[in-house]
Amino acid sequence: MESRPITERITWLGGIDWHRRLFDALIPLPDGTSYNAYLVQGREKTALVDTADPRSAEMLLAQLTSVDRIDYIVAQHAEQDHSGLLPEVLARYPGAVVLATPKAIEMLVALLHLPAARIEAVEDEAVISLGDRTLRFLHAPWVHWPETMLTYVPEERVLFTGDFFGSHYATSELCVEGNEDVVTAAKRYYAEIMMPFRRPIERHLDRLRTVDVAMIAPSHGPIWDEPALILDAYRQWVTDAVRNLALVPFVSMHGSTAEMVQHLVDRLTAQGVMVQPFDLTVTDLGVLAMALVDAATVVMGSPTVLGGAHPQAAYAASLANALRPKTRYASVIGSYGWSGGAAKTLAALMPALRLEMLEPVETKGKPRDKDFAALNVLADAIVQRHQVDGLV
Ligand code: FEO
Repeated sequence: MESRPITERITWLGGIDWHRRLFDALIPLPDGTSYNAYLVQGREKTALVDTADPRSAEMLLAQLTSVDRIDYIVAQHAEQDHSGLLPEVLARYPGAVVLATPKAIEMLVALLHLPAARIEAVEDEAVISLGDRTLRFLHAPWVHWPETMLTYVPEERVLFTGDFFGSHYATSELCVEGNEDVVTAAKRYYAEIMMPFRRPIERHLDRLRTVDVAMIAPSHGPIWDEPALILDAYRQWVTDAVRNLALVPFVSMHGSTAEMVQHLVDRLTAQGVMVQPFDLTVTDLGVLAMALVDAATVVMGSPTVLGGAHPQAAYAASLANALRPKTRYASVIGSYGWSGGAAKTLAALMPALRLEMLEPVETKGKPRDKDFAALNVLADAIVQRHQVDGLV
């Protein structure tokens, strides 16, 4: 794909990775992704904002054949899907200097063995003139690494945001089209990448209220030419507000835990709580992560396997713990053969979640009336909490 103009002085470069299906050997990419770099051409100097993933090397380097000179390469983020082609670009432009936060310099040297002599630190609010265009740097740590920054071009009212406001969404459209799909992809991205850093992100969102932005140009996915769409969505996602929603990620080996899940789902539904069960053997964990963005309650379902939780349930619990959603209530239900233990194991896997753990329900074998009664007590406790919080 060739480079494409965004404004008279700003050009998109990079790669669209239509067929990639896994990121960081962890994150499913149902819609592919893109690695966006941007060329900003002033009357006197030219800057390249980020590079691209090495998977797109051929494309980016071909796009740069028509660019005679680059003075600055802005490395907003040290992760290799944006910084990975810095060595190649620096080799092609021997006069270019990399601009990065002090923290990013240390990381770029460690990750890519970049020569420190070719990197200059830029402080928060530093401004660099390209002649008739300006780069203003806004340090924005923890979106989602500690070294990240944003770059603003005031004359164009364009804000480059790195991963912030990004979406793993491959599209031939330069700007967001079909809002719903892209906002969903951006929510998935937020859930998987940004959610653990909700508080710093909230502060960055507040700061951006003072920046006059016509376009938000992230490093993944299309450009937001109606910035309010993604800014408002992020402002909603980072609040403490939760929905009247209970998630039930579960695994069942012989049907008993599934029977318990179904009973709980029915009981909650009958009392006005929205419920989303996820069979973890077939669930796209990105969809579960998205649901975690604003669900009030999570009930994990797992049989006891060898004295602990089923590994699929343990994986989901570890993931939830790492993503740190704003979930308020949790519990565990499940069946066992000769001894319980899944509930204790799963609770111990989620220490980072500041939530109230409701009494778990573990049954020996196939659930009986007393077990369904215990599930009713759990459902009623969830309903009561949601009522007190004004959700029902
Ligand atoms: Fe898209 Fe954190 O890299």
